[in-house]
Amino acid sequence: MIDLSSRLETIYGPGAEVQSARYRSALDVFRERYGPGLVHTFRAPGRVNLIGEHTDYNHGYVLPVALDRDVLLLARPRSDGQVHLANMESGDFPQRQFAVSDTIPSAPAGDWSNYARGPAQELTRLLGTPVAGFDGLVSAAPPFGVPRGAGVSSSSALTVAMAVAFAHFAGWQWDGAEMARLCSDAEWYVGTRGGIMDQFIALLAQRGHALFLDCRPDRNGDFRTRPIPLPAGYRLLVMDSGVRHANTRNEFNQRVAACRAGVALLRREVPGITHLRDVENLDWATLESHLPEDASVASLRAAGVELGDLPNVPEDAPLRVRACCRHVWTENHRVLAAVDALDRGEIPRVGELLDDAHTSAREEYRISTPELDVLTNAARQVDGVAGARLTGAGWGGCVISLVPDGQVDEFMGYVSRTYMAQTGREATIFPCQAGPGAGLVVSV
Ligand code: GLA
Repeated sequence: MIDLSSRLETIYGPGAEVQSARYRSALDVFRERYGPGLVHTFRAPGRVNLIGEHTDYNHGYVLPVALDRDVLLLARPRSDGQVHLANMESGDFPQRQFAVSDTIPSAPAGDWSNYARGPAQELTRLLGTPVAGFDGLVSAAPPFGVPRGAGVSSSSALTVAMAVAFAHFAGWQWDGAEMARLCSDAEWYVGTRGGIMDQFIALLAQRGHALFLDCRPDRNGDFRTRPIPLPAGYRLLVMDSGVRHANTRNEFNQRVAACRAGVALLRREVPGITHLRDVENLDWATLESHLPEDASVASLRAAGVELGDLPNVPEDAPLRVRACCRHVWTENHRVLAAVDALDRGEIPRVGELLDDAHTSAREEYRISTPELDVLTNAARQVDGVAGARLTGAGWGGCVISLVPDGQVDEFMGYVSRTYMAQTGREATIFPCQAGPGAGLVVSV
């Protein structure tokens, strides 16, 4: 009999016993629903991003950190090619069923089974043979689950947990880059044109570390990664604003469109470029004069600029091409500077870069909200705090901050009070424990 407690301690660290009850009750529910027998439990974590926002789909740099909040998927393979899904939060996520193939019809937008359909289809295509289906039960409820819609990648965690389970039952030994790409393709299936940051960190995270990731694949399709220890003497605190943006996918894809427009226009000046990353070492002041402040899909198309496949971007959507591209250009430089400062232990410098990144996200990329600005401003008032910035896609969700160990209690109290006083809302503040990447936890 595997000792679940010691296994959980290797994942969650000291204090892991509180997880035991969560795992055991999910196992009970699974057996009640699907019958007795062996059950495999997989997990995949959510993440925050220290710095490097909206750079990944531009082949830039990111520095994410996995949370110890995760999605659990309990599963048992089936032999009839069907996937049966249930969720501990059955009110929000009703049971679902679909057949595995290389062309799985998607469920209506917003249906949670799409996060399993995508990986099943992509892995089937990759392996050239239908992967085995399974009976599955998801456990991702608060307080241990990845907060949903909070910009900490709950959907990628769900996708990755599904993909890891399909891979396990198919006997596919995945490596990081190929699996991350597969999961990213699986999310394109859902309709978001995101990058690969969330999938990479969910797969390759190491305890106590951020992951520097260069999102430009090399000739072999591999990616450069480096685990970076989180700074000693500080806690990485996550402040959830409680604000959830309803229409993020459209806004997100509009930003992607602005970046693609920038590349297409700059290609006229710098032939051969494919991503904003390619102009990273050129003088931005010269480049930006070639980019319009404002444009629309229709006006760009009329000027011969093709933006490619972008669902939900209306013809007249306002694209702030110059400002968006400027954000990406400067943000990439900030990530490299932050990694350098972390290597040198210059944490106040890291803090300055986080603050600058927030300003750029707010002014240039326009992805902040008044609530996120209140949180960043409040966080910076506490003595010794090294920076505060929104994390994730934006339009709500969370802010992060590096807080000296001795200031954590004061920080939590001050930020909560200030946030309540200025917005009438409650902030949920919790430390990021920097957990490990996804995988099989236990088979019992
Ligand atoms: C979302 C996407 C990521 C990344 C971030 C912004 O989380 O899924 O790929 O683009 O937004 O940095």
